[in-house]
Amino acid sequence: MAEAKIGIIGGSGLYKMEALQDVEEVQVDTPFGAPSDALIVGTIEGTRVAFLARHGRNHTLLPSELPFRANIYAMKQLGVEYIISASAVGSLKEEAKPLDMVVPDQFIDRTKNRISTFFGEGIVAHIAFADPVCDRLAGILTEAIASLNLSDVTLHRGGTYVCMEGPAFSTKAESHLYRSWGATVIGMTNLPEAKLAREAEIAYATLALVTDYDCWHPDHDSVTVEMVIANLQRNAKNAQMVIQETVRRLSKNPPASEAHSALKYAILTPLN
Ligand code: ADE
Repeated sequence: MAEAKIGIIGGSGLYKMEALQDVEEVQVDTPFGAPSDALIVGTIEGTRVAFLARHGRNHTLLPSELPFRANIYAMKQLGVEYIISASAVGSLKEEAKPLDMVVPDQFIDRTKNRISTFFGEGIVAHIAFADPVCDRLAGILTEAIASLNLSDVTLHRGGTYVCMEGPAFSTKAESHLYRSWGATVIGMTNLPEAKLAREAEIAYATLALVTDYDCWHPDHDSVTVEMVIANLQRNAKNAQMVIQETVRRLSKNPPASEAHSALKYAILTPLN
């Protein structure tokens, strides 16, 4: 079986990693069915990395249709200990403009139709999730972004990612509500991934790539797919560089993460 310590989940616009070499397509079978696509396992400058296209390489899966449990389970089966999850997002703050990068440290759950736990069916566990992102991994990701000095890109460390169900974008009333909550960006996928990664004791951080101002901004048109796609390509190019640099730094100095022992006090059901 192929192995990798670092997992990359690519969102809209990021369907493959250019820097991955000696690649092998791995079809992983899980108790939760097949992942979104085969995992592409290879090396970036000698470091083993597993890449997964979140919506499938031809973008065929809606956010609500994503096999979140299979995706995280498959990463775990390959031995992944760190996941960097790249995701297109709308901005809820003036200062986070399209093409900017945000490394959120909080999430708000507005999903309605997702299974976000591996537990149940006789095993009860409650993981700590007050800090849903691995601070150390997010720190390495942030340093990697900063070191690249990307033109037209401002880096925002921290902030809250609202995870909505979709697939329709928000109404203006919703968008203003999320702004009143102080949220920074909005997307449709990262919260279930973060929860499941924590349950799987995998450190997780989000690379949020801003494509639009959602629909609250008086000086910008409301978000459309056309608008999102227009910024995706540049974002994806930048994301490739950021991920490569993050892998470089992570392989030199893999951090200890509290996520790696998240289940220590979480399981209530006696396991013997
Ligand atoms: N992904 C990209 N832009 C978005 C937006 N405005 N709302 C939700 N998800 C998005």
